[in-house]
This record gives sequence, structure tokens and C-alpha cells, in this order.
Amino acid sequence: MTASTKAYRARLLRFSPQGEALFEEDGLLVVGTDADGVQRVREAGPYRDLAARHAQVPVTYWPDRIIAPGFLDMHVHFPQTDIIGAPAEGLLPWLENYTFPAETRFADAAHAADVAGFFFDELQRNGVTTALTFCTSHPASVDAFFGEAQRRGLRMMGGKVLQDRHSPDGVRDETEQSLIDTEALIRKWHNKGRLGYAITPRFAPTSTDAQLRGAGELAAKYPDTWIHSHVAENKDEVRWARELFPEARSYLDVYTGFGLMRERAVYAHCIHFDDADRALMRETGTAAAVSPTSNLFLGSGFFDYEGADRVGMRHGLASDVGGGTSFSPFHTMLAAYYVGREGQTKPGLSLAPSRLWWNHTGGAAQALGLQGVVGTLQAGTEADFLVLNPAATPLLARKTALADNLEELLFALIVLGDDRLVEQVVTAGAATPA
Ligand code: GUN
Ligand code: ZN
Repeated sequence: MTASTKAYRARLLRFSPQGEALFEEDGLLVVGTDADGVQRVREAGPYRDLAARHAQVPVTYWPDRIIAPGFLDMHVHFPQTDIIGAPAEGLLPWLENYTFPAETRFADAAHAADVAGFFFDELQRNGVTTALTFCTSHPASVDAFFGEAQRRGLRMMGGKVLQDRHSPDGVRDETEQSLIDTEALIRKWHNKGRLGYAITPRFAPTSTDAQLRGAGELAAKYPDTWIHSHVAENKDEVRWARELFPEARSYLDVYTGFGLMRERAVYAHCIHFDDADRALMRETGTAAAVSPTSNLFLGSGFFDYEGADRVGMRHGLASDVGGGTSFSPFHTMLAAYYVGREGQTKPGLSLAPSRLWWNHTGGAAQALGLQGVVGTLQAGTEADFLVLNPAATPLLARKTALADNLEELLFALIVLGDDRLVEQVVTAGAATPA
């Protein structure tokens, strides 16, 4: 034991590395700070088994509370915080009428810093400790994002949007400069403490071949960066992409041709896929960021969980704010349940609550290439965790008290929960003063 070792006693939710939910009615989470300043899990399990071994360690006791891994949001746009709930006929008019005008303002560093601060506050209130985030095409938005994440000691990934065509003045970038800026931002922010850079072509229709090729070259040169984009969200978008890239087998196939599918490549939506697309995702280790509140709000369609399982396509959950309607992982998990359940356009499944939770924690970490780093509260992982109050509202208190098993407890939290459940968020990184 070192002076930095601490322990927390409460009900304890963890996941095995394979995705099995583990629950202790009386659990102990022991954490300690390593030389890099990051707090990691030393041991976790039943209090009765661990307590004697850690008798000298100071224990914080939260009776009736649940300790759980922090949530990971696999796809979110911090600059779209202010356009949540903007109505539109569908994706393309929504981009033109709300998204691009809002993103234009991020050329202004002060505006970007203001929104970044609000965004991280909102993630924290909702229990999201890691997010893969779009910034805008302006490098100032990336500096605002990473600067704020670094000050708070968070594990965050993000990047400058690449969009050099079919985009209005104010957000459109210039091919060569956009790639120079991306490389400079990789050098500035990637692997700085807990931060990671994501090479971020917005989607194939708004990038020239030259920009996509350059993005793929950077992805090969910096193989542990992330790649982050959108694909097969909306039928009009799919039609447009097929017209622009007629030689590709499918919309997804466009990205393969430019070297943009590999481990740590993450594509939001992946709705209008066939099995060959799903197999391409599996073979390349590419992951889908399923964004159910966004897909329901923009009328995009329903992610096919049966197809993903059958073919073995990696996936996890995402808010996709501001197309998505909530920062709350509880809202996202419930929407994912509705989307999975839908059985008129694809096979309908009743997804287990523990699977939904895994898809937003350890499973999302695995899909992001962060297995063993966050998301499970296994020994050795970073200690980003939540303290949940299952009695946060009268109905939650009544319903969770009736739960006979873990699945019933988790489903009550998913169906009835929101930010009121999240009483505390403990993050593993050392906050650095501004
Ligand atoms: N496709 C291209 N850009 C966007 C975006 O900002 N949001 C969503 N949901 N889809 C997109
Ligand atoms: Zn998106």
C-alpha cells in the first residue's frame, strides 16, 4: 500500500473483459495513483473477501449507492451542443439549415472555449467520462476541446473536421492546408496524457478524393490515432455518396479505398448496410457507433443488431448530440432498446439490459481500442467511475427496490434513469490548473 491508495465500499457493478456483468451487493473498489498521476484500480470485488487485505486503507462508504464504470460516448459533436432538438425533414436539410451555421461560429476561439466548458460540464453531470468527439473544421475548436479536457484530466478523443467540398463558406476547408493542420494537431495533442487524436473526415460526400487520400495517409503514418466519420445514416445521403463514388461497391467501400478502415476507425450510424459491409467492418476491425436517439430524431432508420451479431461487427453506443437528443447514457440505452426491438424493417431483438450497459462502457472501450484501459473497473484499468443513487426519484426508489435480479435492476435504471441518478463522478486523471 502507498499513501495514495484509497478504497470505496458500496454496491459495485463491473464487467469482465468478455462483457459479463459482475455485481456485488457489498463491494470494495481499491484504487491507487501511479507515477503518471493517473489513478488505477488495484482490486475490486466482494467487501468480505478484500477488506482484510486492505485494512490500512482509508475507506469511503456509500451504503445504498452503486459504483459503476464511467460511460463512454462513441460519437458526439461538442460544437452541436446548442442545436440539440433542431427539427428538419432529414439529415441533409438539418446539416444545411442548423449544423453548418452553428459550426461556422467555432472559428472564434472564445466561442469554442465557452461551448467546450459547457459540454464537459454536461458530460460530467451525465456520467460520461470518455467521448470520441467531432470538433469543427477550425483548428481553434480542437485546441478548445483538448485544452479543456486536459485541464480536467479526462480521457478524451477528438479532431478537426475535414470537409473541402459541398460545404458552405465558413466551414469548408482547403485540401492541402486541412491536412497540414491535421498533422500539426496530431503532434500537438495525440497521446498527451489521456488525450487521443481522431482523424475526422466529416463524411465522404464533403471531402474530395485528395482529402480522403491524405486522411488515409495520415492514418497510416500515425497508426494509433483514431479515424472518425459517418456512414450509411440516411437514404438520401447514401444515394448521394453512390453518385459521387460510382466505382465503389458500396458507400462504406469508399472509405476502404482511401485506407480509412482499420482498428480504431469508428463510423457513426452504419444503418443502411448489407452483410458484405458488415463483413468489411469485421475484417478491418472497424467499429460502428450506434446512435439511436439521433436516428429516431432525424428519421434515419434502425440499426440492425441481429445483422451486427450474426456477422460479428464491432459496435457500441453513442449520443450523436446534436442530431441526438440527450447527453444521458440512460436515454441512449433506452433508445437502443427501442431500436433493437423494432421488428418491422429488420429482425427485432429484446436486448438484455446488461448488454446495453456493456455497449456503453466496456464494450464501447473495446470497440474504440481501449480495452484494458477504461470501462470495466477491472484491476489495472483507469479509475473513472460513477456513484449512482438508485433512489434518486420516488419511482426509481420504488422500482429498484422491487428488482429481484441484476437484469431487473439495470433495466429499471435504464428505463427510468437520467442525470439525477449520477450523484458523483470520480475521474482518474490529475486535473491541471488552467
Ligand atoms: N453526417 C455528416 N455530418 C453529420 C453530422 O454532423 N451529424 C450527423 N448525424 N450526421 C452527419
Ligand atoms: Zn454525428
